[in-house]
Amino acid sequence: MITFVTSNRHKFEEVSAIFNDAGIELSWEQMKYEEIQADTTEEVSRNSCIKLIGQIHGDFFIEDTGLFIDSLKGFPGVYSSYVQKTIGNDGIIRLLKDRPDNAMFKTVLTAYINGTIKQFTGILEGSIASDERGEGGFGYDPVFIPSGYGKTLSEMDLTEKNRVSHRFRAVKGLVESLARNDH
Ligand code: IMP
Repeated sequence: MITFVTSNRHKFEEVSAIFNDAGIELSWEQMKYEEIQADTTEEVSRNSCIKLIGQIHGDFFIEDTGLFIDSLKGFPGVYSSYVQKTIGNDGIIRLLKDRPDNAMFKTVLTAYINGTIKQFTGILEGSIASDERGEGGFGYDPVFIPSGYGKTLSEMDLTEKNRVSHRFRAVKGLVESLARNDH
């Protein structure tokens, strides 16, 4: 059994479906924790995990996700949460007017297992749509079109998003490691 610490119900639902398929028990600590700012998603994720050591019973993990837009030199990146709350999807679409729209999502999962820290990364390449589309998901999902797909993540159901997503790819690394018992 391992605990996923997140206040985000959407993240928990996506991750819990992956654990379910793998037959590994997952518990949810629905808690808001302090995100420690840094220059990279790897550091933010690691620092936030370290801050939680001693507060969570047993093995646990957190994850931090960012949207990186090529023509904005990786912005909003580690500021993705602030940018979503302030200018939102509409603001991102406006910023990208007349600029190339290539982007990626990156999830960095940091796990604390048997007293050891391990990180797992998942990337999803794609592009920013010219308008918001779809009802599902959360955050930037309505404006993110995965490469090779003609629709946004919001136009996919959870199962379909989980087949391609950055979060799925990071969690897959953890699930495989837990299954191998290699920590
Ligand atoms: P955080 O990982 O919760 O800090 O997420 C940073 C920002 O990216 C927040 O505004 C989230 O809503 C957004 N975000 C995180 N994961 C996803 C995702 O899978 N799809 C769309 N937006 C996301």
